[in-house]
Amino acid sequence: MITGASSGIGRGLALEIASRGARLGLLARRQNLLDEIVSEIKARNGQAIAVAADVRDPQAVRQAADRFRAELGPIDVMIANAGIGTSNHAAQLQPEQVAEVMNINVLGAVNSVAAVVPEMVERGSGRLVAIASLAGYRGLAKSAAYCASKAALSSFFESLRIDLRNTGVEVTIIYPGFIKTDLTAGREAKMPYLMELDDAVKKMVTAIEKGKKSYAFPWQLATIVRSSLIMPPGMYDWIAARNSFRE
Ligand SMILES: NC(=O)c1ccc[n+]([C@@H]2O[C@H](COP(=O)([O-])OP(=O)(O)OC[C@H]3O[C@@H](n4cnc5c(N)ncnc54)[C@H](OP(=O)(O)O)[C@@H]3O)[C@@H](O)[C@H]2O)c1
Repeated sequence: MITGASSGIGRGLALEIASRGARLGLLARRQNLLDEIVSEIKARNGQAIAVAADVRDPQAVRQAADRFRAELGPIDVMIANAGIGTSNHAAQLQPEQVAEVMNINVLGAVNSVAAVVPEMVERGSGRLVAIASLAGYRGLAKSAAYCASKAALSSFFESLRIDLRNTGVEVTIIYPGFIKTDLTAGREAKMPYLMELDDAVKKMVTAIEKGKKSYAFPWQLATIVRSSLIMPPGMYDWIAARNSFRE
């Protein structure tokens, strides 16, 4: 089961995972785009179904998961990928915008987990995957809502990983850097180590297949971001203010 499967990373994951033989349940709001992906998968002799749903609606997500289980069998892997990005400066803070980012990026993932985890625990197997972000490690300029949502998402999944130890249900948290998708398209700010979608998708699928607990990439940016964790606040702010990835 993949949420946010209609474009970008979700679409890429769907096509790559289908090519490796898995049956797929795809969820996003844009039915027409999902239908095109299902046709593409079927044309390559794969199996997939699509359900249009909004991850903010817990009942709709549960119904989608029920349909995937009924038509394709138990859900082995649920990838919580649906997400949006926004640019906002602290001086023009709009609470509604922050709420929307949180609702989709965090609570949408919570709804997706809730729709699959009881059945996984009962069965004693399954994998929950979060598409978090390197932006969740520390705050970035003009990205308060997005950074906070990704920090919340990764902490949420980390707690799940601890709670679910010894249940047979495992958790993978993926922290990508910049990838060429609609989310990053049109930005004029320089995005270091910007990756091609296909390359990034292959890395993510390999990390999931290997059962990694966490995977941050590309390694160059992941190393810079991780080392920033030990910087004192004044030093970090000085560097971060000079490296805005948003206009
Ligand atoms: N691109 C990057 O550089 C990058 C880096 C790190 C992490 N990420 C994360 O990767 C994930 C995918 O982003 P992307 O780059 O592939 O962007 P994208 O092409 O804009 O894809 C976002 C996906 O999320 C879905 N979505 C958004 N709101 C939704 C909702 N309310 N309910 C259901 N689905 C919803 C969209 O589908 P519909 O509009 O059809 O609903 C779409 O399929 C996001 O969580 C993003 O934060 C991206």
